[in-house]
Amino acid sequence: MKFQLEFTDPKSKARAGTIKTDHGDIETPIFMPVGTAGSVKAVHQRELTYDVKAQIILGNTYHLYLRPGLDILERAGGLHKFNGWSKPILTDSGGYQVFSLSGTNKITEKGVIFKSHIDGSKHIFSPENVMDIQRVIGADIIMAFDECTPYPCEYVYAQNSMHMTHRWLERCIAQFDSTEGKYGYSQTLFPIVQGSVYKDLRVQSAEFIASCGREGNAIGGLSVGEPAEMMYEMTELVTDILPKDKPRYLMGVGTPANILECIALGVDMFDCVMPTRNARNGMLFTTEGIINIRNEKWKDDFSAIDLGIDSYVSSFYSKAYLRHLVISKEILGAQIASIHNLSFYLWLVGQAREKIKSGEFSSWKNVMVEKVSRRL
Ligand code: GUN
Repeated sequence: MKFQLEFTDPKSKARAGTIKTDHGDIETPIFMPVGTAGSVKAVHQRELTYDVKAQIILGNTYHLYLRPGLDILERAGGLHKFNGWSKPILTDSGGYQVFSLSGTNKITEKGVIFKSHIDGSKHIFSPENVMDIQRVIGADIIMAFDECTPYPCEYVYAQNSMHMTHRWLERCIAQFDSTEGKYGYSQTLFPIVQGSVYKDLRVQSAEFIASCGREGNAIGGLSVGEPAEMMYEMTELVTDILPKDKPRYLMGVGTPANILECIALGVDMFDCVMPTRNARNGMLFTTEGIINIRNEKWKDDFSAIDLGIDSYVSSFYSKAYLRHLVISKEILGAQIASIHNLSFYLWLVGQAREKIKSGEFSSWKNVMVEKVSRRL
């Protein structure tokens, strides 16, 4: 993997660049649709490519390890071959899902013992086996095994957890660097900054992560319930320390406004379930603001979902029709809403990139944050 930093905004810390992988280039800033179990829910690969214009998608170690399991993934030739997505893939390590989804889990220095949310069976994730599992899944970018602390979190817990995440990272690096990809293309490992909402811990963690010298770095443990201002403060502290010539990935963020604000703080990569999960509940993100399509006010609004973005479903289908589908629990409603929301997110980061290139990002961002946050 290579990162080329191409433009920097004169009035903020925003940057535009290109990440080069063996499965193609990713233009940053970028949003990565979440494909937890190897599929972006309700959106098939052709739509992801041509309608959403996704450049990279996410998969989850936790889900893929439990189902379909490593034997099937390896025999398929890796996740790209299995699901037919030939562009880059990033896998999260399970360092988040294992805490949020699985049953009673025991966290020890060795790793985390957890119960499958599918059948209750007992498993262990360690820094070593999570690297091996992600080698088998075959993502282009794989994530270190970490503990994502909850919010609020006591200082001493956050401190001990951060140190354990750092020790786990050293084991991840040793394992990753002593193994090879299984399918002939290269993989890269991103470490994750933790430290909850404590400035001194965030600084310490960012310095440690920067010293590891990996090809890209991530910021974790945010967007877990803390106020947005706190998330921005932690993000800025960390981006000021992480190397400029490596991509920075803010995990699990966020709303359109969060993404624009964090681009302004120097973040290059984002992922979040919000555009797809909220789509299935009828929440639409548009260039004019946020729509709850279930609302009665849309029942006879025959105007297009959103003419502001270049996506087929957004201009072809009306708000009234989409409302009918969502209210009727028609599967097509979830499909159209998901494609629209993802198209909007990809449009937003694409616009941000253009504005960074033309030197207009800061003033554009301020207008857009207000616009995309409005409730219609
Ligand atoms: N997704 C959102 N936040 C986190 C985090 O802190 N760690 C990991 N591994 N995944 C995340």
